Amino acid sequence: MCGIVGYVGDDDALPVILDGLKRLEYRGYDSAGVCLRTDPLTVHKKAGEVDELVEAAPESSEATCGVGHTRWSTHGEPTDENAHPHADEARRYAVVHNGIIDNHAELRDELEDRGHVFESDTDTEVVPHLLSEAEGELVERLGAVVERLEGSYALACVSADSDEVVVARQDSPLVVGHGDDANYVGSDVTAFVEHTRRVSYLHDGDIARVTADSIEVWNDGESVDRAVETVDWDVEAAEKGGYEHYMLKEIHEQPRALRKTVSERTDEVEGEALLDVSDEVLAEHDRVEFVACGTSYHAALYARRLFEEYADISATAEYASEYDGPHAPEETLVVAVTQSGETADTLSATRRAAREGATTVAVTNTVGSTAARETDETVYIRAGPEIGVAATKTFASQVVTLALVAVAAGRARDALPASEASSVLADLRDVPGAVQRVLDNEDRVAETAEEYGWDDAFFYVGRRLGYPVALEGALKLKEISYDHAEGFPAGELKHGPLALVTPDTPVLAVMTDGTRPRETLNNVKEVESRGAPVVAVTSSDADEGARLADTVFRVPSLGDMEPLLANVYLQMFAYHVARLKDRPIDKPRNLAKSVTVE
Ligand code: G6P
Repeated sequence: MCGIVGYVGDDDALPVILDGLKRLEYRGYDSAGVCLRTDPLTVHKKAGEVDELVEAAPESSEATCGVGHTRWSTHGEPTDENAHPHADEARRYAVVHNGIIDNHAELRDELEDRGHVFESDTDTEVVPHLLSEAEGELVERLGAVVERLEGSYALACVSADSDEVVVARQDSPLVVGHGDDANYVGSDVTAFVEHTRRVSYLHDGDIARVTADSIEVWNDGESVDRAVETVDWDVEAAEKGGYEHYMLKEIHEQPRALRKTVSERTDEVEGEALLDVSDEVLAEHDRVEFVACGTSYHAALYARRLFEEYADISATAEYASEYDGPHAPEETLVVAVTQSGETADTLSATRRAAREGATTVAVTNTVGSTAARETDETVYIRAGPEIGVAATKTFASQVVTLALVAVAAGRARDALPASEASSVLADLRDVPGAVQRVLDNEDRVAETAEEYGWDDAFFYVGRRLGYPVALEGALKLKEISYDHAEGFPAGELKHGPLALVTPDTPVLAVMTDGTRPRETLNNVKEVESRGAPVVAVTSSDADEGARLADTVFRVPSLGDMEPLLANVYLQMFAYHVARLKDRPIDKPRNLAKSVTVE
């Protein structure tokens, strides 16, 4: 995915756009560029991070309108030429784009036959050339051009003729910001939240013309109104707040984020979880299928168990990209777990489920996201903005939110007695404080990272609720430290992976309550006898595991949420190993925070 920002107002557009790009860098950092509305248009673009563009571009400009882009490459290498914006030969039309234009090759052949000369290998470049051939004002031209496009796009265009940004959206998010004497465009609110919190989310098929004093939107040729909403977080929330990295800040923000997640959602007296999902939806389905990617998939794996336990309902979790559709659509609730609400794989799995007649629910962090808008019901995880590419606080908030939904389902289905629900809810309410107690041990985790961080490979094991945490712990480490790390069900080690275990491969074992620690102990003995160092995360009162492991971290007593607490140790371990190696922790190579292509 990529980041888009646009500005039209009274001020110099260049610094506004460059600031927006800095904030959007978590969406991609292969290259960055800006187009200023001059006649002809002025384009500055550079491979690499936004700082390289800042170096290459002038400090100020005369322009009061322009667009910018930070890129996560799909079509074409991350070079200066392939950086957006792309313009036509005469520099009259320029475009930034997020998404993929599926029929770009055929459009390009056609344009080249008519004499157009291309400068890049991107799919995007067909758009400015098509704009130059179309007729009318920019908004009419873009309307005609999108008719010819197949695929997904958030497009923001400028022309040399007027101070306006014209945008179009299909399967890729776009939001407009209503300012004072200025208006904004962004691939998400982060692009301009320091200037305005009043936003309108565009819908698929929308085309909008943004000038300094107006925002007009059309869909299918008809003028439409898109509600103006106020985002409830500000720029402070998206800044580092004194931490060395966003990831570390977000790890430490977990208690606060989780307090928001559970706030006013637990009624321990009645044993009820208070959510916006209707009881009918939870009671009437006999099967739940979770679809998700990456970290969200691990949260879904965790939730699957909780649904079976609390709601006595058959539940599966599948990688969204592997999902073939619901097994019995009428009886199935399909739950999309997605922090961004924009992951293409997850959206396409959810759409397939909806087409086949299943009821769909989104569990997401992002108000106004595509997942939130397209599903039958939405539950927000309320974690606040997450900037670090490696997801941390949103995983914790996902698991706790899903646990609340599992309790609600258990109550709606008469599968969970009120007294048991009360005790689960009490645990959920205690998660923030317990996470804080884990965070207080960061120094010891940093020492452990120093001790083992230079080893060759890392294995993470756990059972039941410890298994998704083992997967998540390994994913965090590989994402940000670039070390080889794998998570396994602890019992599976002996069926193959044990061949890889040596004195240079630390094994991190999740052995808290809720993970069958006694059985995992046998697997710990197996790796110990092969000389591997063992780092165990155990419950506060566990003796045996603690005796065997080389390093032991303990979590406060908290039932099914103990593995989630163990995960906080694994997050800190990954962070400190990556820091030791001086990795770009907030922007790991090749990755992007939200991937809007399949
Ligand atoms: C990308 C990110 C992962 C994230 C996954 C799913 O791959 O790098 O950190 O877990 O997308 O994102 P979602 O927004 O759907 O939770």
